[in-house]
Amino acid sequence: MTIPYGRQSINEQDIEAVVEVLRGDWLTIGPKVGEFERAIATVATTPDAAVVNSGTSALHAAYAALGVKAGDEVITTPLTFVATAATAIAEGATVTFADIQPDTGNLDPEAVAALISDRTAVVAAVDYAGHPAELDALLEIAHGSGALLLEDAAHAIGSLSRGREVGSIADVTAFSFFPTKNMTSGEGGAVVSPDAALVERARRFRSHGLVRDPAELRYPDEGPWHQEVQSFGLNYRLPDVLCALGLNQLSRLADFKRKRTAVFERYAAGLADLDLLTLPTKRDEVDPMWHLYPVRVGDGQRRRVFDFLRENGVLVQVNYIPAYWHPVFEDLGYQRGQCPVAEQYYREEISLPMYADLASDDQDRVIELLHTALS
Ligand SMILES: Cc1ncc(COP(=O)(O)O)c(C=O)c1O
Repeated sequence: MTIPYGRQSINEQDIEAVVEVLRGDWLTIGPKVGEFERAIATVATTPDAAVVNSGTSALHAAYAALGVKAGDEVITTPLTFVATAATAIAEGATVTFADIQPDTGNLDPEAVAALISDRTAVVAAVDYAGHPAELDALLEIAHGSGALLLEDAAHAIGSLSRGREVGSIADVTAFSFFPTKNMTSGEGGAVVSPDAALVERARRFRSHGLVRDPAELRYPDEGPWHQEVQSFGLNYRLPDVLCALGLNQLSRLADFKRKRTAVFERYAAGLADLDLLTLPTKRDEVDPMWHLYPVRVGDGQRRRVFDFLRENGVLVQVNYIPAYWHPVFEDLGYQRGQCPVAEQYYREEISLPMYADLASDDQDRVIELLHTALS
């Protein structure tokens, strides 16, 4: 039996919710879309939410809604999945990578402050592993320079920072509902913001930029069939079938959080005696919903420990290769060495199994194997 690093938790209610939609009239663009959006807005404590068909689409729609355009600079972290940067580039931006803080793996506000200029349109932070970034400091730095803060909270729906829900703090926040994430809709994502108009722009982007409201049409007398594209968009719609799954998953979020917290605490207790391991930090001001359990293995031992765990059926992962190490960035002239803290983090990191239904026996096996590998 193998133990994955992450997986979904699907119960009978999730299945029934999907089947009910399949028996109905709307596979997509139906009532579940709005229901799911209202439920996400409630969880994020925002006035509105726009659901889309992946976390990547959420980031793309968020950059578009912020008005990112050719020639703008976006400053982001290299310790992320490449989509955080790739979607900015898709809107024509130039991406600059700022280094991270070694304890949380999150974007370092001081590194951002050193790089930001009047060319910078957006600072894009990632809540690495579910631990919220230093959002207040980043907001101050971004706004002080006329830029906006995008939060890639693909890992962090359900997390709090200074008592506030992730999604309600940054200018715009993107969620992912991929199966390994804190909750899932199979594929899926959402854009939330304290600014309802920004969410509306993201919603328009996910549906080709189409405008139907007669009050907003440039040619309102064209006929009852008329709709207009006033800005370009794409088809990033999330079908009702997946919204139904997401809705039921969202109703289980508090339970998922409790279980993920218990997994976090069991690792913290079980691995504390291993000197070669650095365990993830939780800052006092945050209440994370842990998506990953990232440990750092010292003394150049990461590869050996990784291979040992994999050979023993523990399907650990490494999150992440610094984004600018990907050949596509290398080919654009990005060089290794520009963010040394992130590169060191990458060289040492292993993501241990972390998911709501991780059995205690399986977790204990992981803890035991780490003791065997490191003693
Ligand atoms: C930090 C981060 N950003 C963006 C994404 C993209 O999300 P998705 O896989 O739903 O497109 C992911 C997921 O892999 C992620 O981990």
